[in-house]
Amino acid sequence: MLWGAALSAAQCEGAYNVDGKGLSNCDNIYAGKRDMSKWYPRADENHYYPTHRAVEFYYHYKEDIALMKECGLQCLRTSIAWSRVFPNGDDEKPNEKGVAFYDSMIDELIKNGIEPIITISHLEIPYELTEKYGGWENPKFAAAYVKYAKFLLDHFQGRVKYWITFNEINMILYFPLSLGARIDLSNHVEESKFKAIHQILLANASVVAYAKENHPTMMIGAMIAYSPIYPYSCQPDDVFKAMTSERNALYIGDVMVRGKYPKYMERLFKEKKIDIGITDDDKQLLSENCIDFLATSYYCTNAASVSNETERSSGNLFGGTRNPYLKTSEWGWQIDPLGLRYALNFLYDRYQIPLMIVENGLGAKDEVVDGEIHDDYHIDYISQHLKELEEAQEDGVEILAYTLWSFLDQVSASSGEMKKRYGLVYCDVDDEGNGSFKRMKKKSFKWYQEFLSSKK
Ligand code: BG6
Repeated sequence: MLWGAALSAAQCEGAYNVDGKGLSNCDNIYAGKRDMSKWYPRADENHYYPTHRAVEFYYHYKEDIALMKECGLQCLRTSIAWSRVFPNGDDEKPNEKGVAFYDSMIDELIKNGIEPIITISHLEIPYELTEKYGGWENPKFAAAYVKYAKFLLDHFQGRVKYWITFNEINMILYFPLSLGARIDLSNHVEESKFKAIHQILLANASVVAYAKENHPTMMIGAMIAYSPIYPYSCQPDDVFKAMTSERNALYIGDVMVRGKYPKYMERLFKEKKIDIGITDDDKQLLSENCIDFLATSYYCTNAASVSNETERSSGNLFGGTRNPYLKTSEWGWQIDPLGLRYALNFLYDRYQIPLMIVENGLGAKDEVVDGEIHDDYHIDYISQHLKELEEAQEDGVEILAYTLWSFLDQVSASSGEMKKRYGLVYCDVDDEGNGSFKRMKKKSFKWYQEFLSSKK
């Protein structure tokens, strides 16, 4: 098993228009209260855009990787920005300078003994491609993704073994923008979301097929966001609601691991008169090309209730019913370490393939006091979750990697804030982009370093 930490290109790199990079969907999301369910038009002069500089990993990556080595990371999960490699999404030739950046970054990781785990699409898609094709619902859009993914697999052959095709696919159902799904919110929204996911699932299967044929030693996985949903009470209606709510994530795992849409989705599509346009060729592609491992994020759990009397909770993009037994983070996410053991056992029982926990962490406000950050809250969160992860391993769950979210502080996906800090390393930049961008090791860095030294 590999122990490490995670980042995502759009949230950490910055340099949004440097060295030939094209504009991405994330580059258009301005600071302030954001709405990830809508689509943002092209960036203009009137706003501040947090991803434009983010934490400037693009310029600091060597220093940051040196810190990763010092901390003892065995792996880094990060992503490649599609718009840096193919600025318009479907350019004939890749952008050489963009590729050179990832060559250098990946070589630097390898040189420092850190295994790269690469997400091909994490929150970020080329804006020009959406102008051309509209978004994921259009098969031409997915074809451009597959071309991009094949290029990466060929180019990084021999250097990158572990690939994650997509970040948190189920998020489209709640927040289309989190996968760059440009969905016409005025019309057939639900059908559009399921169609977009269908194209993503086909693209995922095409990448698996390509790897099997051309790069058989690569391991191809894909990711869902899994926040278990507990029944608020033992009333059967609550139990049933919890089960059906979970299927929004699990049906995607079912298709990718078992190779076909489960019957309960066929029924749902029929009842809601949703036509995702699935063909016999699609069915064959899906059934012949299942993923090698399932990646998931785990931050919190939620509850489900049929009653209108219960309180609402927030969560990793989607919320639910407030669970009175759990404490929450400053952003209202319900902290549940035992839920991680539950989630791992549940997913492994269901799928029986290796798992990766590619995100797990706490977003919190840090304070710098005399040049130090005593983030005991991060340490408490991480240590309690790691204890449960190790219990799950004892239970027999096969885990390929754990990558803590996150190595560096980076731009929050749901709020765009810098003050929602997850990192082991503090980055000196605030919500308006002021700061020196200097890195500082937090107390949690030292804690994780000690933890990792016991894993050598
Ligand atoms: C996951 C995303 O949903 O949660 C990450 O994959 C994101 O990109 C993480 O940063 C934490 O969410 P947030 O909104 O607190 O940044």
